[in-house]
Amino acid sequence: MNTKHLYIHTFGCQMNVRDSEQIAALVNTCGYKRTQDVRKADVIIINTCSIREKAAQKVFSQLGRFKFLKSEKEHLILALGGCLAQQMGRRLLEKAPYLDLIFGTHNIHRLPEFIGTIEKTGLKIVETEFCDSVKSMGIPAPPEQGSVCAYVTIMQGCNNFCSFCVVPYLRGREESRLAKDIIDEIKMLAEYGVKEVTLLGQNVNSYGKGLSNGSNFPDLLRKISKISGIKRTRFTTSHPKDLSEELIRCYMELEPLCEHIHLPVQSGSDIILKKMNRGYTHSEYMQKIEKLRKVCPNISISSDVIVGFPGETDGDFRETINLMEKVRFDSLFSFKYSERVGTAAVNFAQKIPEAVKEERLKAVQFLQDKHTLERNRAMEGKVEEVLVEKISKKCKSDIMGRTRSNKIVNIAGNSGLIGEMVPVLIKQAYLHSLRGDLRQ
Ligand code: 5AD
Ligand code: SF4
Repeated sequence: MNTKHLYIHTFGCQMNVRDSEQIAALVNTCGYKRTQDVRKADVIIINTCSIREKAAQKVFSQLGRFKFLKSEKEHLILALGGCLAQQMGRRLLEKAPYLDLIFGTHNIHRLPEFIGTIEKTGLKIVETEFCDSVKSMGIPAPPEQGSVCAYVTIMQGCNNFCSFCVVPYLRGREESRLAKDIIDEIKMLAEYGVKEVTLLGQNVNSYGKGLSNGSNFPDLLRKISKISGIKRTRFTTSHPKDLSEELIRCYMELEPLCEHIHLPVQSGSDIILKKMNRGYTHSEYMQKIEKLRKVCPNISISSDVIVGFPGETDGDFRETINLMEKVRFDSLFSFKYSERVGTAAVNFAQKIPEAVKEERLKAVQFLQDKHTLERNRAMEGKVEEVLVEKISKKCKSDIMGRTRSNKIVNIAGNSGLIGEMVPVLIKQAYLHSLRGDLRQ
């Protein structure tokens, strides 16, 4: 019998990348092997994101391309999952009647059943009910062969209801996995040779709330730090309002915890932060940064910023620029505010014209490039521990890895070093990477 193939197109965040790995593991149980070649596919799954309007638009243009494949191959099953599926459900069939399957963020674990039914009956399925999301998070998915780094979902959903954000509506309320299940999964990854794990959740600081055993995120980090074989741990995303002293101390106490934090600030203006329902002020955010830097002077800090939120004046925007000047982030993801149906901010007055948003975004990006380069250049001449991940895509005689501070480093070297931690002298800093030499 010919092998059947699955092609997954993933949009959006690390959570989605992890969900796609779990999707691949599940669909594999129905006899489908994951392929990177869409022309070979018998099932195509588009794992979508709808956090911003642009993300949703990208999905539709991609769908248009897959539609042609469907007309060429009669038995091809075309499925759409993730946040856009959760948001639009059956309405997607009006835009894309050729879809065979639409499944929401809480229905991943039912994929084998859905695909089995479609194979047998050819009927369309739409399922976007919220159900036990812990089931979806716990799907065992071995890492891709030779993977050095892996993602592990520790919680799903979010209870914060920032006024601009659809996540609580599309991913549901916060739900944590049991520490034991997480630890077992990481032990399994370590056995496959994984050296670095990134713990995923919309707000990892809330980990454990709602679990009966009273365990919290620092407890979990301490347990993971003891797993043999796991040399590095990271986590994302951390909400500034819940970043505790106990968690900050972990940077000092836990050797595997890497010196990097992603701490989205969104705005530097107290008025806008309040309207966003973020739960902290500019100066409270700065205090957290100072504490982090006191405990861990070399910590690299990345963040997210939204420009053009309703009511954002020039003065409010200047506060964001001020904050950036004070913190000097290592990297920053910056976005124009994008209105999302169902969120509180839809009803806020004083919408900002697109041209103003564009101008502010450019100013943020210009300043951030300067800061990123400055922070990267400060590493020139230093010896950094690099965990080698793979052969570089651009140059086959180079290997690529990351520093503990999460910076990409390219080094002349061979595949024998993959999975090794090596000392590297940083010779040259660029905007998106560093270049270094192996130190023997
Ligand atoms: N408009 C613009 N950016 C948004 N983000 C979330 N929702 C929106 C929105 N409606 C950004 C935030 C968040 C990141 C994942 O996406 O900065 O931290
Ligand atoms: Fe969205 Fe705010 Fe939750 Fe982050 S914390 S997922 S921005 S609601």
